[in-house]
This record gives sequence, structure tokens and C-alpha cells, in this order.
Amino acid sequence: MTVLDGKKASNDIKNEIKAEVDKMKERGEKVPHLAAIIVGNDGASLTYVGSKVRSCERVGFESTLIKMPNTTSEIELLDKIDELNQNNEIDGFIVQLPLPKQIDTQEVILAIDPDKDVDGFHPANFGKMALDMSTFIPATPFGILELLERYDVETKGKHTVVIGRSHIVGRPMSILMGRKGFPGNSTVTLTHSHTKNITQITSQADIIITALGVPGFLKAEMVKDDAVIIDVGITRVPDESRERGYYITGDVDFEQVSKKVSAITPVPGGVGPMTIAMLLKNTLLARERHRA
Ligand code: GUN
Repeated sequence: MTVLDGKKASNDIKNEIKAEVDKMKERGEKVPHLAAIIVGNDGASLTYVGSKVRSCERVGFESTLIKMPNTTSEIELLDKIDELNQNNEIDGFIVQLPLPKQIDTQEVILAIDPDKDVDGFHPANFGKMALDMSTFIPATPFGILELLERYDVETKGKHTVVIGRSHIVGRPMSILMGRKGFPGNSTVTLTHSHTKNITQITSQADIIITALGVPGFLKAEMVKDDAVIIDVGITRVPDESRERGYYITGDVDFEQVSKKVSAITPVPGGVGPMTIAMLLKNTLLARERHRA
């Protein structure tokens, strides 16, 4: 059984990116600059954005963190996005989701210049992804592809079952695993809250990618021997006995499932760190495109 170590892989990727940035500096070129907008003070979102910004420092990127209050109006956020769209110093930016309820997320995503949309959420980029055109692939799915590739997990002709159809993970993942090439060429089943007999489906899967946010959802009896399990769930479970007051867990009953399968991602230390590494990779790509 192989534990797919996203922490190690993401470290390797960050080192590769840093080497590219060092070369840019030697040539006297501008280094990539990522900006992140966060609206409100959700603890988990602040943690994620904080580690995105810290990772920029680690690879030699410039970064800008823009914190806006929970009461921000949609117009105020759209104005800020426009400012970043116009600012030639910024190569790429993200608006951390979820947003407070007075703001329409779709309007926000549509306002981002697709050339700076390093999350790959704009419909122009999502469409390009679905049509195999060069674009920004959303960081979490991109990180999963990269992990499968680095561990040489065979995907061709395999049955991949994706659990969850979110715009950020499940939906793009289902498209990417069915694409031509490697990783890809899978036969994909996309399951969601209305799927009947999910155990019947998951127990036929060679690869399961679960992105639900329900701790311990995937149990050993739902999984066939030697399957490959990718756990995208990240849930904070309150626990007063821990210093932080919570612990992080995934969608998979790791202890039982890991005894049966050929490969599995841990939580934490699996898909999560890959997401940040691929956001940096998209930002590097944005800089290279803006230079060209
Ligand atoms: N919230 C959870 N995941 C993501 C992500 O990948 N990008 C953004 N912008 N917000 C998120």
C-alpha cells in the first residue's frame, strides 16, 4: 500500500518553481506576483489564504493579501477586482470562496480577467479546460492529476468514480479524468447527493476521488481491494483537547480503508498541499504568458 504523499510532492514542486524564479531574477526579469482577496473572517478561509501567501514567499514570488470586511458589498468587491485586472504588476489573483451571502459568487467569477484567473474558475477557462485547450486548470484537480502522475498511477481504461459535483473539484475532476492522455483516459462516473446505490458504484471503482466534506463517509465495504483512493475532504472537527481546538479529517475512514487499497492520500498531507503548489504553478504560467 502506497501513501500518496502530497506534502513531499508539493515540496518538490515548490523547489522546481523556486529554481525557475531564481533564473528569472538572474536575468533581471520581474518575478510572478499573486494577489488574494479575502472577504470576511472565516477561520478556515483565513488559514488557507495565509498559507497561499506564505508559499509565495517560499518560492520567491511577490504577493499581496487584500482583506475586506464581512459587510463588503458586491459593488465594492467588483471595484477591487477591476483594480487588480488593470494592475500590470499583478500576474494572477484569486478571490477566496465562499463569499458572504450578499455577494453573488457567479458575478464575481465573471468579473475576473480570464488571463489573471489562476483559480481557473472563469467560464472561459473552464470551457477551454473541457475542450483540451491550454488554460489554467483549477488548483485542486490540477494537484490531483500531478499527484497521480508523480506516483505513476495508471488511469487508462480504469473506472474512476468521482463523489461530489462541486464547480471547484468534482465537476472539473470528472472532465479531466476522462480526457485523452495521462493522467486521463478513464471511464468516469460522477456521483452526487441524488445518486442511488452509491456503494454498488464505488465498489466497482478502480479509482475513487471523494470531495464531499463528510468525515468518514467512504468506508471499507464501499471500496474494492487494491483501489486507489483520493480524499479531497477537509473538515474541521471541534476538539477541545487539541491546542487549536479542532482537528482536520477527510471523507475517508482512513484506518479501515487503507488496509484494503493499493494507494491512498492522507488528510492532512495529501491533496491539500498540492492545491497550493498548483496555484503557484498557475501563477508562474500567468507570468510567462504576460511576458510573451
Ligand atoms: N475555497 C476553497 N477552495 C478554494 C480554491 O481553490 N480557490 C478559492 N478561490 N477559494 C476556495
